[in-house]
Amino acid sequence: MTNILEVNNLVTSFQTEAGRVRAVDGVSFSVKKGKTLGIVGESGCGKSVSSLSIMRLLPKPSGVVESGEILLQDNDILQLETKDLYKIRGRKISMIFQEPMTALNPVHSVGKQISEIFKIHFPKMNSGEVLNKSVEMLRKVGIPDPEKRFSEYPHQLSGGMRQRIMIAMALSTEPEILIADEPTTALDVTIQAQILKLMQDLQKETGMSIIFITHDLGVIAEVCDDVVVMYAGKIIEKAPVIELFKNPKHPYTIGLLNSIPRLENKRKTKLNCIDGAVPGLLDIPKGCRFQNRCEYKISECEKKHPDEIEVRPEHYASCIFPEGLK
Ligand SMILES: Nc1ncnc2c1ncn2[C@@H]1O[C@H](COP(=O)(O)OP(=O)(O)OP(=O)(O)O)[C@@H](O)[C@H]1O
Ligand SMILES: [Mg+2]
Repeated sequence: MTNILEVNNLVTSFQTEAGRVRAVDGVSFSVKKGKTLGIVGESGCGKSVSSLSIMRLLPKPSGVVESGEILLQDNDILQLETKDLYKIRGRKISMIFQEPMTALNPVHSVGKQISEIFKIHFPKMNSGEVLNKSVEMLRKVGIPDPEKRFSEYPHQLSGGMRQRIMIAMALSTEPEILIADEPTTALDVTIQAQILKLMQDLQKETGMSIIFITHDLGVIAEVCDDVVVMYAGKIIEKAPVIELFKNPKHPYTIGLLNSIPRLENKRKTKLNCIDGAVPGLLDIPKGCRFQNRCEYKISECEKKHPDEIEVRPEHYASCIFPEGLK
């Protein structure tokens, strides 16, 4: 299977008042052509910072990629000059942001915002074509009465509709890779299901690859082919989705899976969740980052963060004894 994107040893840090902190610390993963890679992990583990690094949209000047490569069909995105970067953003990789209101411009109608994208990326289109394409795109993402909606402003739309507008904008350039950063977290369950279905339908139609970021393993199971699990700036496990759910090897992944509510658990009054909290970036422990919450911890775990071990084909875990666990 061809990889369309490869991230190798990415290290991204921020300058803060208390010093430089590494939000992403040596992360490697790849995205297969036409497939969906899920990135899952608790709040603050580095999911958004990883995707902003790929897009080269880190807040300046505090955020910098210190080292690593991000290969898009053999070109390192991190080495591109600004003019080449503009050619990649949109046409090759698009992103749906976590909070649509911050990405939509409140003073322009949604129609104007989507038309702008066509004008920038397809300068040969005349204004009639731009209008037709924009309305067609709104229709495609399931916006009812798109001609009327065209002249409305973001605040006039519901959260679900705004997220659809974001998807329409992200897909209007027909990108090869779509990064969807928690695209449904703010939406209620039925709208969430509709948006997920929409993304899957569009993927079937266009063959694009998707990086799907979420903290919800239930959503991962539904839409992803492969999964990486992040913890405190590192990937601690990665595998094809069925393999990860059947044979989780890292104690953190096992804990996450146990925390999904299940019907057969209905007699239990309390959900199984992982005790303790993710360490802050300023007090990352020496050794394994998960050690303070791990029930299997031994003194060896305090020495260094464990290397990635291939525990089964295509299945990697960073734990010194992943085979020893259930
Ligand atoms: N501009 C910034 N300056 C300093 N630290 C930052 C900045 N942006 C993010 N961070 C830190 O980087 C770490 C990773 O943040 P990130 O936004 O990637 O988390 P996340 O996994 O996307 O979490 P969530 O699920 O809440 O969206 C966090 O500890 C966060 O505080
Ligand atoms: Mg985030």
